[in-house]
Amino acid sequence: MPLPPLMGRGLPLLGHFPYIHGLGVDSFAFFMEGYRQHGRVFAVRDMKDTFAVLLGPEANRFVLERETPHLSWGAAYGDEGSRVMGPTAMPLLDGEEQRRRRAPMMSAFRHQNIVAFGDAMVELARAQTAGWKEGQPVDLIGAMSELTFRVACGFLLGVEIGEDYPRFRELYKKMFTPVGLALQAAGLPYMQRYRDGLRRLSARWIADRRAHPRDDIISRLLEAGLDDEDVISQVLVLMFAGHDTTKLSLTWTLALLLRHPEYLARVLAEQDEVLAEGPIDAEATRKLPVLERALRETHRLYPPVSLLRRGVLEGFELGGYTIPRGWKVMYLPRVSHQLPDVFKEPERFDPDRFAAPREEHKQPYAMVEFGGGYRTCIGKELAMFEAKVVLSYLLRTFHFELAPGQRLEVANAGAMTSPRYGVKVLVKRTGRRVPLAQAA
Ligand code: HEM
Repeated sequence: MPLPPLMGRGLPLLGHFPYIHGLGVDSFAFFMEGYRQHGRVFAVRDMKDTFAVLLGPEANRFVLERETPHLSWGAAYGDEGSRVMGPTAMPLLDGEEQRRRRAPMMSAFRHQNIVAFGDAMVELARAQTAGWKEGQPVDLIGAMSELTFRVACGFLLGVEIGEDYPRFRELYKKMFTPVGLALQAAGLPYMQRYRDGLRRLSARWIADRRAHPRDDIISRLLEAGLDDEDVISQVLVLMFAGHDTTKLSLTWTLALLLRHPEYLARVLAEQDEVLAEGPIDAEATRKLPVLERALRETHRLYPPVSLLRRGVLEGFELGGYTIPRGWKVMYLPRVSHQLPDVFKEPERFDPDRFAAPREEHKQPYAMVEFGGGYRTCIGKELAMFEAKVVLSYLLRTFHFELAPGQRLEVANAGAMTSPRYGVKVLVKRTGRRVPLAQAA
């Protein structure tokens, strides 16, 4: 069988590098054009690698259900990722080594642990929004970034990191600037001093869990025999994977609701009916299908992560082409969610597409905003619960409006679907009190 068709030759020397890494160019338009020209399998390349671009539910299933010896996470992110997160960070590992880390983490993400954190989420949202003033535009991305970092920190590390929080936040912010990431990935030791700072800071938390184990991630990883450096790597992975994504999910959902007032009215009516004066607890969040569909539609149009890769360890055939060993493959949630034979009028914001009888997402792997298969996102339930709790809190506490002239477009930067012009909103308090579940 032939190799997949190459999407033009790209730029001299760089090939398709700027599109693959989202550097100042519209990667989404580029890959959509690839789909229009070549269909669901085609190839692009940068200075080092050739990538097969795989689109649509069948191809997503292929990528997400295969592991070593066929496809590998480690071979996709390899040295670059290891310089950023440490060589034993879970997303860089395959097979047994990966499972040894995922299993203990999973037990901390149990349903009861997640829903037990609901009141803390409400309290953190209350604190985060306490200073919002009428007439002063609020930078939603900034606010959601801070809030989701606090939620991730509280859930993963324990709210009691208390006085260490400002230092941890500062180190994290310095490590994960786009420039910092690029320098580190290019082999410059940009992150070392921040990692050292983080190591000193977390040594105390780790020592504490060694002495007093609990039902949390650090304790579980220690029980599984990981050393301190390894535990720090997993903490970094979880903080990175768990807050930048949820920040985007919350911001885009609210922005799209404000752009679609008729659907927002239905979300608000559901809130009044289900929550009334009651708390936003586990039971209530199960009864919010109108809000849930808005979230899913937002994830379809603007999946927080838009490009994921694997290394090819053993060649295979797909869609009439041979993908040889040594290539890489990528799956693209944002492009896959736009295929018109899977989702009707895919560019429209239409949350009802997820309701019966349409249920356009029913085909397995049509929606891949959380990946899928054996390594599906470990934080999926936490992220969905957090989104429902935080959005409910915000919508019950404030009337929102997009700031005049606010444009909603995706930035041409990296693999994350960030809003190019940020999202500024104007708020007015509703005067409603949102009680905690514990007090109810
Ligand atoms: C809306 C929010 C989120 C989105 C859209 C999202 C998206 C994803 C995607 C697409 C993958 C699969 C990557 C691949 O196939 O290469 C993934 C994996 C992962 N996610 Fe999430 N995620 C979200 C929230 C979270 C949260 C809250 C956490 C943890 C606190 C988290 C932790 C992880 C981890 C650790 C993995 C790697 C799993 C493994 O290696 O087995 N994510 N996520």
